[in-house]
Amino acid sequence: MCGIVAYIGHRDAAPILTEGLKRLEYRGYDSAGIAVIRGGELLIRRCVGRISALEEKIGNELTGATIGMAHTRWATHGAPTEVNAHPHCDASGRLALVHNGIIENYRVLRTFLKQHDITMDSETDTEVLAKLVGHFYDGSLENAVRRALREVRGTFGIAVLHLDEPDVVVAARRGSPLILGVGQEEYIIASDAAAIIQHTPQVIYLSDNEVVTVTREGFRTTNLEAMPVTKEVEEVEFTLEQLELGGHEHFMSKEIFEQPEALRTCMRGRVEAQEGRVVLGGLTSVARELVRCDRVILTGCGTAWHACLIGEYLIEEIARIPCEVEYASEFRYRNPLVHDRTVLLALSQSGETADTLAALREAKERGALALGIVNAVGSTIARESDAGVYLHVGPEIGVASTKAFVGQVTVLSMIAAFLGRRRHMSHAACQEYLADLGRVPDAIERALKLSAQTRQIAARFVEANNWLYLGRGLQYPIALEGALKLKEISYVHAEGLPAAEMKHGPIALINADMPVVVIAVRDHLYEKVISNIEEVRSRGGHVIAVATEGDEQIGQLAEDVLYVPDVPGPLQPLVTVVPLQLLAYHAAVPRGCDVDKPRNLAKSVTVE
Ligand code: M6R
Repeated sequence: MCGIVAYIGHRDAAPILTEGLKRLEYRGYDSAGIAVIRGGELLIRRCVGRISALEEKIGNELTGATIGMAHTRWATHGAPTEVNAHPHCDASGRLALVHNGIIENYRVLRTFLKQHDITMDSETDTEVLAKLVGHFYDGSLENAVRRALREVRGTFGIAVLHLDEPDVVVAARRGSPLILGVGQEEYIIASDAAAIIQHTPQVIYLSDNEVVTVTREGFRTTNLEAMPVTKEVEEVEFTLEQLELGGHEHFMSKEIFEQPEALRTCMRGRVEAQEGRVVLGGLTSVARELVRCDRVILTGCGTAWHACLIGEYLIEEIARIPCEVEYASEFRYRNPLVHDRTVLLALSQSGETADTLAALREAKERGALALGIVNAVGSTIARESDAGVYLHVGPEIGVASTKAFVGQVTVLSMIAAFLGRRRHMSHAACQEYLADLGRVPDAIERALKLSAQTRQIAARFVEANNWLYLGRGLQYPIALEGALKLKEISYVHAEGLPAAEMKHGPIALINADMPVVVIAVRDHLYEKVISNIEEVRSRGGHVIAVATEGDEQIGQLAEDVLYVPDVPGPLQPLVTVVPLQLLAYHAAVPRGCDVDKPRNLAKSVTVE
């Protein structure tokens, strides 16, 4: 989604701002802009396309300014044009504002401004906000921002500059993340810690309806009623190195290959196999309530929702608690049956997904225990949950979620054992399960060796425009995940199905041009899946099977076989997803797709 970076200090602002924007590129955008104050002038440059185009446009024109802000826009209201790009100005042209989020009542506000003869140049909701802050300006930018925000319905993360106060940046948020980096006599405000980390690890996470006013000498935080709010300075957990490619061509490939280590970190200090114990510090405060729950709802979007489907199986099978899965976007607008023994688990890599956050809030409002399973430390979902578990898989930059997915499934596996052990699971059974879980990173390491084979398979199907992914039981969510990975980064149509559903319609699609990926590992559904493979073959479909090492039978049936190590049933999805991630990656690269920043997509979807 959109990105914000603002700077005030003693260094040259423009390169810090454009560098910061580059760190946010992965979030997705279609235009960019920058504003600085220098020598009594407010200088603004905007352009459509990449940040490199903005840099070219700027050249050295902004050199010497030590205060400024920049923005990457992902179009919502109005096309991605220069005139719609941020920053936007007020009617006087002395105030500039950048904004993430959506101003829902912008039509009403535009009418109000029109009555004061204030007209718009762009089609954006953001310009309405810029004009509104300007309308209320009477010598204090901080007051004007507060005054305007009290009129606003919707979500925002904003940064504002005014020529009459050339040494002040005002920023505020509601429903859209904003972080203040606290350096040595310099401050960086950004919508993502990735733009701050190279300057300082010290940050303050703003909460909803908070305003921060920053000068070179310091900052103060207040709420919209001008009451002071005390904030704690926290330390960002990840390093700059984790944001670099480390020899890989794309972040997606780096993140796929990081999975074994990411899972070891995720389990470190939590999985105590010998003791048959799972230690989840983030759940300690709610452990009793959690163990007594009688129903679990798992919610999330996209890949996180696929992890929820696996979680449903794990929690029912291992913890024996009734469980259901809901798309967060559906849950938030239903009238769900929730009571005080319901636990909602909200899964989100970014911790900022608007629908997932809304579902969490809805569940809390209705009295459920609302837990967050989140990767981004300090994110909104992490802070608003009653308690939770961090994934600890490191920052995920590629838009296609890979290591966060296996992190989510691993955390759910740990939660299932945590609950199971406290309810009915024997010590020995828990020991065995956790020992198996601890071996998964090694199994993933072996599965990663399939990279070359998946590249060859993908190369053979570079012309195929439709793929089917079939799986049963725990492998059905993996079929969905494999299909999602392929379509989002290679723009090839792919569908994931429970294998048995194929004959109820989709089988009509099968012909010799259609690759059909079937996950056919040795589990209790193996024979059933083999029958589904026969059905595909007899219609001329080309079967690419993901099978268990040592399975010779499958070689007679499938044209291609990707062998993965054998791991116990409930943990198999953690391994079978790997060749599908690799297949999607190798299908996208030769097509010339922008793997890490696929078209139309954003890394964190902070709007509805
Ligand atoms: O940050 P979140 O986990 O809440 O994001 C949810 C989805 O937007 C995300 O998983 C999306 O589906 C990915 N691009 C899939 O690879």
